[in-house]
Amino acid sequence: MLILGIETSCDETAAAIVRDGTHVLSSVISSQRARFENTGGVIPEDAARQQVLCMLPVLNACLAEAKTTPEDIDAIAVTKGPGLLGSLLVGTTTSRTLATLWKKPLIGVHHTLGHLSSTWLAQDDVSQPRRGIARNAPTSGSDVASPFPILTLSASGGHTDLWLRTSHTKGRLLGSTRDDAAGEAFDKGAAQLGLPYPGGPSIAKAAETGDPHAYEFPRPLHDDPSLDFSFSGLKTSLRYLLRDQQFSIFNFQFSISNIAASYQHALCAHLIDRITRALHRHPEIKEIHLVGGVSANISLREMLQKSIHEQTSKPANLPVRQAGQQTALRWPSKLIYCTDNAAMIAAAGEFLVQEHGGKAYEQFETTASLPLAMAVS
Ligand code: KG4
Ligand code: ZN
Repeated sequence: MLILGIETSCDETAAAIVRDGTHVLSSVISSQRARFENTGGVIPEDAARQQVLCMLPVLNACLAEAKTTPEDIDAIAVTKGPGLLGSLLVGTTTSRTLATLWKKPLIGVHHTLGHLSSTWLAQDDVSQPRRGIARNAPTSGSDVASPFPILTLSASGGHTDLWLRTSHTKGRLLGSTRDDAAGEAFDKGAAQLGLPYPGGPSIAKAAETGDPHAYEFPRPLHDDPSLDFSFSGLKTSLRYLLRDQQFSIFNFQFSISNIAASYQHALCAHLIDRITRALHRHPEIKEIHLVGGVSANISLREMLQKSIHEQTSKPANLPVRQAGQQTALRWPSKLIYCTDNAAMIAAAGEFLVQEHGGKAYEQFETTASLPLAMAVS
């Protein structure tokens, strides 16, 4: 199918045209990031007003870039929630209007399902390798085709979830954050360090010249057997660290870079700790996917790659997995598919139709708060 995707859940206005859930013909994103750099976060009313101004130019650019006319499009997929209600309504109202005018079916997509679908985008783009490390050794015919079960860490500014997926839209939640989301921990940490919003890229940049082992942070939920996450303790530790540094007479080693690098390292180590535990408990996992804004973090990718490599080259650590067999590690093929975009919404729309047929076109409400209810199989 050729699907027009529309995403307006926060401060990005995005439209994309995607064929078969993988081939991106165009993906246009108008970001308000610069507008909120110094406000410490997004101002919802302001974001919604900008969505109204950007929606039609973004749509026109998207159709022109894909050299597509409305007649070519098979369906429209739009983010129905969760997100900022005012922003969401701009996308859903536009989509409903276009669906009526152009006589196209409309698919309401959960924002997180969009992120979960983002690792399928542009898979033919050989300049951006899809796989972090070696492929699973193919065994039988059906095994070669299916990458499932997949362990997916979906970490953004609004959620941090660990999923065990048996298909694109089926699976179960293994763990979730008990307080802040991982992206939120980056954003709040950056605000404390005086770095601009969004905090993820700011901290990553400041950390480039820093020592990740300069400061020690606690290991959240270390003795907790669940696969949940918690970030508020790290944020509080950062606050105390900054306060103590400020008043210490020995603060000649004080460096924002060192603190940023150590804080980033602690956040990533916590995410990786949960992934590793899940891998031990579920040896059937074939692939690990990182998605959501935080998956753009290069240190996270490198640390995870190293950790997986160490474990799979020591099979004793993972008794059921065979010696030499490596777990494929993937993240979106381009950085723009990690953060909010409409191509992932179009891909999710395609997978919903593939797996649920006509049910994918059912009526939906636009909702600010919406838990992702995956079909469990
Ligand atoms: O998925 P996303 O674009 O929007 C939400 O659905 O929330 O994620 C945005 C979040 C922000 O909190 C931002 O700080 C974080 O992703 N982020 C990063 C990086 N780029 C964006 N976090 C860590 N490292 C990055 N390079
Ligand atoms: Zn998102």
